[in-house]
Amino acid sequence: MISASILNGDLAHLAEVAELVRRAGADALHYDVMDGCFVDNLSFGLPVLETLRRCTPMPIDVHLMIAQPHRFAERFVKAGADLLSFHIESDTDPAETLRIIHSLGIPAGIAVSPETPAEAVLPYLPQMQKDDFILVMTVRPGLGGQAFMPETVPKIRTLRRIMTEQQLPLHIEVDGGINAETAAICREAGADYLVAGSYLLGADDPAAAVQSLGKITD
Ligand code: DX5
Ligand code: ZN
Repeated sequence: MISASILNGDLAHLAEVAELVRRAGADALHYDVMDGCFVDNLSFGLPVLETLRRCTPMPIDVHLMIAQPHRFAERFVKAGADLLSFHIESDTDPAETLRIIHSLGIPAGIAVSPETPAEAVLPYLPQMQKDDFILVMTVRPGLGGQAFMPETVPKIRTLRRIMTEQQLPLHIEVDGGINAETAAICREAGADYLVAGSYLLGADDPAAAVQSLGKITD
């Protein structure tokens, strides 16, 4: 899955941004929510998601970079999220937040910041369901347009090895600094969901840019 991050898009023309990446062949929209508390930045929240939901048929992959995701999960699903990820480093019990998202009937993702080791998610893997995912941040959360951190690649590899050994039907999403070159590195390490923002939105030929990331799964 190629999920196009709209964070650095023209937010006055969200419908056009969504249409551009849909025509380019992206599979989903990646919607980054920041609360000024979990990360030192603010982005957009529920009303903008409701607006986006009305103007595109694409699945919306919501990435919560907020301190209290369990309080907002239901509202984000009602506003239009088709996949919902939250950070393991947030002020929440990940098991409880997973339960809430599962009860709402959509895939859940556990996001891990660069400094968090793969081992942190292991206690939650048995609770994860088919089509859930681990979101491995390949930059520090909070801003689009940052450079890929290669030191995060061993974590992707470790998680994919564990999922294969335990036969877990889970996905690995990578997010931050993804372009043709870093996408290939992440795919080789075991990622199958790729988020790309500035690379796609800044491309002269967005369709060629989507193709260059390589399509892996649905
Ligand atoms: C960073 C966000 C990313 C970001 C990706 O905090 O979670 O989704 O928008 O943007 P690029 O692809 O520009 O790094
Ligand atoms: Zn993101």
